[in-house]
Amino acid sequence: METELISEDVACSETLNTIYERRAVRRYKDIPVDHEMITRILDAGRMAPSAINRQPWKFYILTGKETIKAFSKEIAKVTARSFVKTHSGGDILKTAIEFLHMLKEGDLFKRPDPIFHTAPVVIFIAAPRENEWAPLDIGMCAQNMMLAAKALGLDSCPVGLAKYVEQTKIFSRLQVPFSEQVHMAVILGYGDETPEVHKRIRDNAFFIE
Ligand SMILES: Cc1cc2nc3c(=O)[nH]c(=O)nc-3n(C[C@H](O)[C@H](O)[C@H](O)COP(=O)(O)O)c2cc1C
Repeated sequence: METELISEDVACSETLNTIYERRAVRRYKDIPVDHEMITRILDAGRMAPSAINRQPWKFYILTGKETIKAFSKEIAKVTARSFVKTHSGGDILKTAIEFLHMLKEGDLFKRPDPIFHTAPVVIFIAAPRENEWAPLDIGMCAQNMMLAAKALGLDSCPVGLAKYVEQTKIFSRLQVPFSEQVHMAVILGYGDETPEVHKRIRDNAFFIE
């Protein structure tokens, strides 16, 4: 069951405000992001907790318009194929629904940049392959970065599809060593849309005495 968030309760805290105001933004202004801002956002990511304090994250950062466009185009090419392959063997209906949701969310076929949404900064986040906790660590790192971005007046979007970059023919341009796996990307920029808040599911907490 979906219900509205009780957001007036949180207006008293800057941190909570930032959490509640962050959205996945998929349209950006053609304004570059200052290098200093990127550094501050990376530092916020580095402050995330990590299992056994391994700090496994590695950041591969794109800021060139043409480079971002090229990666977006190549990832879009391999996305549909990879998505179906990854989800095959499971519930085919569920896979189809998830894929349709993804297309709708990203308006994949309508927008000029279906993967990176015209953002001026793309940060791929990778980690050593043998680290079983890396996906959790990276999720925390990415969320820190997105909240820091919001606090600094920027918008962001997590891009899970970015992991398919490994299957593109231009992957070697990122210079990610084979020992590392790309898990996702965070895109950053000055947002050019104000997405609606998605209602949150609230009947998912179970208190056990
Ligand atoms: C692990 C993960 C992967 C995601 N991958 C994508 C993606 O590839 N493309 C995209 O446009 N949004 C992606 N999103 C954004 C979600 O669609 C978005 O966070 C969700 O719809 C909730 O919206 P909100 O962030 O505005 O609250 C991803 C989010 C997460 C957490």
